[in-house]
Amino acid sequence: MTIHSRISGTGSFLPERIVTNAELAKTVDTSDEWIVERTGIRQRHIAAEGETTANIAHQAALRALDAAAVSIADIDLVVLATATPDNTFPSTATKVQSLLGMTHGAAFDIQAVCSGFVYALAIADNFIKAGQAERVLVIGAETFSRILDWEDRTTCVLFGDGGGAVVLEKSEKEGILSTHLHSDGRYGNLLYVDGGPSTTQSVGHLRMSGPEVFRHAVVNLASVVDESLAANNYQRSDIDWLVPHQANLRILTGTARKLGLAQDRVVVTVDRHANTSAASIPLALDEAVRDGRIQEGQLVLMEAMGGGFTWGAALVRW
Ligand code: ACO
Repeated sequence: MTIHSRISGTGSFLPERIVTNAELAKTVDTSDEWIVERTGIRQRHIAAEGETTANIAHQAALRALDAAAVSIADIDLVVLATATPDNTFPSTATKVQSLLGMTHGAAFDIQAVCSGFVYALAIADNFIKAGQAERVLVIGAETFSRILDWEDRTTCVLFGDGGGAVVLEKSEKEGILSTHLHSDGRYGNLLYVDGGPSTTQSVGHLRMSGPEVFRHAVVNLASVVDESLAANNYQRSDIDWLVPHQANLRILTGTARKLGLAQDRVVVTVDRHANTSAASIPLALDEAVRDGRIQEGQLVLMEAMGGGFTWGAALVRW
């Protein structure tokens, strides 16, 4: 029997505090009009003092476990994607493991910035298909507000905090059809954090050459989408839902146009969440599953691109 892996539950969590563009315009030289026109972002959620990536991940995980109707005793692996861990170590995944009261199995973080959730899903899928795990909690959670330079209008308006999670489990039925991961470290200087334990011994701030990242994103995303469809003998027209990483509305509409996909087949949350990096796909996925847009049997394509550069896609039969 071929072993498959399927998403059996989704969950997400957003910090309570909402910051609108108009509020940002009071402290940095920007406007609601500029942000909406260039990015589609209208607001973002920002973590409260003391609210960490692990806290956000924990809440998202509880909701995914509930949706999958499984208890933490049934989970044998936690894979958590984040670029904003609580600490350099221990991993945020082990902190979440502890918050969930899980003392068995294994837990670790993975780091691929905005592509983190696709990377984590690929790892979990491979653990299940290799027979090394049966039920994996896959989480993407971030507190990007903590690494933003709040005086840099070219970056601080773009990001938000949040988390999403899925339970991925062994199944006889098809679920994750394939995952495709890429990276190219030559572009590390176009999107990076200017600090770290081994360089500056500080956390640092996010720096980005926005227009250059934009150009690479459009090309790399179109190519990985076609790669995932070709690997499964599907056409662009077979896609029911595109659940993309939410960086910029113009990238989302551009990708949909390239795919010949109607805009209403793209799950969009960037207007309300901004870019939540590794959390953006599981947040969007949870929204579209809970409001009934994504239905059993449909073909769902997730894709992301982030610092590194890293990029990837996952094609899923829901
Ligand atoms: N408010 C007002 N004006 C601004 C702002 C702002 N918040 N930010 C920049 N500007 C100004 C610039 O200074 C510039 O002014 P100038 O012409 O006088 O020099 C002008 O607006 C145009 O700036 P550009 O950077 O050329 O604007 P662009 O249309 O490219 O939009 C943006 C910038 C939104 C960052 C876009 O390039 C983008 O979305 N890039 C991709 C980001 C992305 O995909 N990231 C993905 C991965 S994220 C991750 O991995 C963590």
